[in-house]
Amino acid sequence: MVGGLAIEAKGLFKAFDGKAAVDGIDLAVPEGSIYGILGPNGAGKTTTLRMLLGIIDPDRGSSTILGRAHPLEAAKLVGYLPEERGLYPAMKTKEAVAFMGALRGLPLGVGRERAEGLLRDNGLGDYVDKPIKSLSKGMAQTVQLLGTIVHRPRLIVLDEPFSGLDAINQGRLETLIRDEAAGGATIIFSTHVIAHAERLCERIAIIAGGRIKFEGSVADARDRLRPQVRLRTKAADGPWRETIPANARQEQGLWQFELPRGGIEPLLRGLLDGGAGIEELSIERPGLHEAFVAIAGEEAAREMADHGGTEIVA
Ligand SMILES: Nc1ncnc2c1ncn2[C@@H]1O[C@H](COP(=O)(O)OP(=O)(O)O)[C@@H](O)[C@H]1O
Ligand SMILES: [Mg+2]
Repeated sequence: MVGGLAIEAKGLFKAFDGKAAVDGIDLAVPEGSIYGILGPNGAGKTTTLRMLLGIIDPDRGSSTILGRAHPLEAAKLVGYLPEERGLYPAMKTKEAVAFMGALRGLPLGVGRERAEGLLRDNGLGDYVDKPIKSLSKGMAQTVQLLGTIVHRPRLIVLDEPFSGLDAINQGRLETLIRDEAAGGATIIFSTHVIAHAERLCERIAIIAGGRIKFEGSVADARDRLRPQVRLRTKAADGPWRETIPANARQEQGLWQFELPRGGIEPLLRGLLDGGAGIEELSIERPGLHEAFVAIAGEEAAREMADHGGTEIVA
């Protein structure tokens, strides 16, 4: 089903204690893509992923994964890293990876073989035969991630995979996600760290309060905002001031304003002809963070940065 949808959801709704956690969500995740679900804590990301996987039932709405209406029918083709992590502390690292594969139908012998290679490729070659309890939290999380993909799933669902990892392991995880996608898998992950989604995702859904605020490509989200101009001039005043938009802000001599609809050229002409004396000039396309603020609001954006996911290792 190249060109098809790995996930399609329509009107997913789930309430807990009479309060909507997921309030009518539609999703369409193209096969082979890297898809991000962005939203602050409590937005409904985990509940959405669980419904897609058939771990909890929606109150209303429906979804398919890999073309199947019953998610559990696709179980062997799916890998899932839950937000609550946990491995058996006494189990050897290699066994833990093979064990997770076996839960998804992979013969143990094959799993052990693949586990060695995966562990080696991900900086854990020295720990293949060591127990999980001898690993750091971040290492254990990497092991769980490898266990999530050891059966070579076509759809990989990762709930806050970056939280709890240091910068090096976050980088490794990004590479691993890209490699899996290059090999044809579809990856959907939730995050409250905008930078990961910005670097990795073809498409994103921004959710807050159980609702989709935006769905589309990262570029489309960024295009919601006008490019920002920053300008410093030698002259303090002059005819050139007329070319600066009325709503421009000025801080310590630095003008900041949205690029006018007419583009940069009329502005430049006005500055040059009007004797402004350009000292500093930049035009910057807003990043996904700025777009997120515009789409989901300041409050949601503040909550994005500083919460780690739940991490229970062993
Ligand atoms: N099993 C549950 N029982 C009761 N409330 C829940 C349960 N799971 C999630 N919730 C509530 O639903 C809302 C969405 O939670 P969740 O899907 O975990 O959001 P996120 O993953 O975006 O942080 C939150 O208000 C949360 O407290
Ligand atoms: Mg969550």
